[in-house]
Amino acid sequence: AVRPVQLTVDANKSGPVIDRNIFGQFAEHLGHGIYEGIWVGKDSKIPNTRGIRNDVVAALKALHVPNVRWPGGCFADYYHWRRAIGPVRQPMMNADWGGVVDPLTFGTEEFFDFAGQIGTEAYVSVNIGSGSPAEAAEWLEYMTAGKEDAIGAERAKNGHPEPYKVAFVGLGNESWDCGGGMSPDYYVSQMKRYSRFVRNYNPAQTEKGDPMKRIAVGPNAGDTSYTEAVMKAYKGHSWAWNIEGLSLHSYTTGGGWPLAQPDTGFGEREYAWMLSETVGMDDLIKKHGAIMDKYDPEKKVSLTVDEWGAWYKAAPGTNPGFLIQQNTQRDAVLAALNINIFARHADRVRMANIAQMVNVLQAMILTDKEKMLLTPTYHVFKMYVPFQDATSIPLSYDAGKYSFEKYSLQRVDAIAARDKSGKIWFAITNVDPNRPAEFEISVPGVAATKAVGETLSAAKIDSFNTFEAPNTVAPKPVSFAATGGKLTLTLAPASVTVVALEP
Ligand code: AHR
Repeated sequence: AVRPVQLTVDANKSGPVIDRNIFGQFAEHLGHGIYEGIWVGKDSKIPNTRGIRNDVVAALKALHVPNVRWPGGCFADYYHWRRAIGPVRQPMMNADWGGVVDPLTFGTEEFFDFAGQIGTEAYVSVNIGSGSPAEAAEWLEYMTAGKEDAIGAERAKNGHPEPYKVAFVGLGNESWDCGGGMSPDYYVSQMKRYSRFVRNYNPAQTEKGDPMKRIAVGPNAGDTSYTEAVMKAYKGHSWAWNIEGLSLHSYTTGGGWPLAQPDTGFGEREYAWMLSETVGMDDLIKKHGAIMDKYDPEKKVSLTVDEWGAWYKAAPGTNPGFLIQQNTQRDAVLAALNINIFARHADRVRMANIAQMVNVLQAMILTDKEKMLLTPTYHVFKMYVPFQDATSIPLSYDAGKYSFEKYSLQRVDAIAARDKSGKIWFAITNVDPNRPAEFEISVPGVAATKAVGETLSAAKIDSFNTFEAPNTVAPKPVSFAATGGKLTLTLAPASVTVVALEP
């Protein structure tokens, strides 16, 4: 018999706070991410509030989404905000994503309405690639200035007299590629100008000590050239400009481009391949974190992983530019492994945005006309809500490796944290798709009689939810009792479990 894994937690020790913003999301004008997924228009038969779908809002509210990044992605660098405000919109070609016309009926007003409905903060990316500092500065003026300002007055005329709160602003997107193919030094010179002039005029934010944070474009996966250039510039920043975040983009593709991995109908090789690749996120954070430490030892700049997730070959018969993919139990495990990595680097990684929110890439939600389903990834994000702003607690265990052919990674992966009410939470992923994982957890000094929560497992590693069977993969309640001062847990193969200690 395999001996249970011994997991020990010293509840007297505290690590950094797990910033709720690592559970951020990304919603780009791409495929059915915005149109149909979020926006159906006021005249739609699909129940909506001012054009925004009620079912999607209710589902997202339950996730306590801390921030939403919008309008792109690549789209942000060819988006001209003035075409999407007020009563008359100017439709535009969405050249990168499917070559379709974007009616721009979802613009600044609708984005902030949506953000308000789901209770999230705005992370707006400005156009550096094909715009100008003046255009970006005026967008911020439109969003954040009072109505005594001429551009703030336009917003008031368009129905919103109070300034909006822009919590985060992205200074471009992937400027090394779709954002304009800029060399690191060229980007740095642009970034300084945008950081200087893209201002937040909303006094309420500054007075509350909650100023808008600026996120600079950073590395493309393992490439360190932007990290070096931007962080070196940061070290020499002046009173006139600054940044609070450096963006990292890294997708899990199972072998890179051209994409070859199917979203469903895969076997154990593809399961092990994707998961062993995804845990490379840890090395990436260490690599870029080391450069950031050199220029910013106080860790003032957050490493903001504002695009991450699984990216598969486009589903057959779909517009390849719409990035439509199913979402399986493998994606649930993949999401949990990444969140755990971010949590373990909570001192540097204070924000992350999964790509993307609805109907695109590793989505939370899929829609088909009036129908909606929650994906396994959605369930993981919901189960992890207690970790938002919780204080991490170091833990130790050795569960050995899970290997398949040349692919290998830790067999189980766990984090622990204390929430604001003092409750201790564990999130444990059993990566092994063939064997359950037995755990014995000791928390010296804490009297717990049981661990209670939810577990997400599935019949197959590629089980997924459909509009006809939306609960094929859904969390189930679990309760594990303590015996002899130890909690004994048995976790299903390829599962994600989140439990809290109870007296
Ligand atoms: O998320 C899809 C695309 O991936 C984004 O638009 C871009 O930033 C990245 O390359």
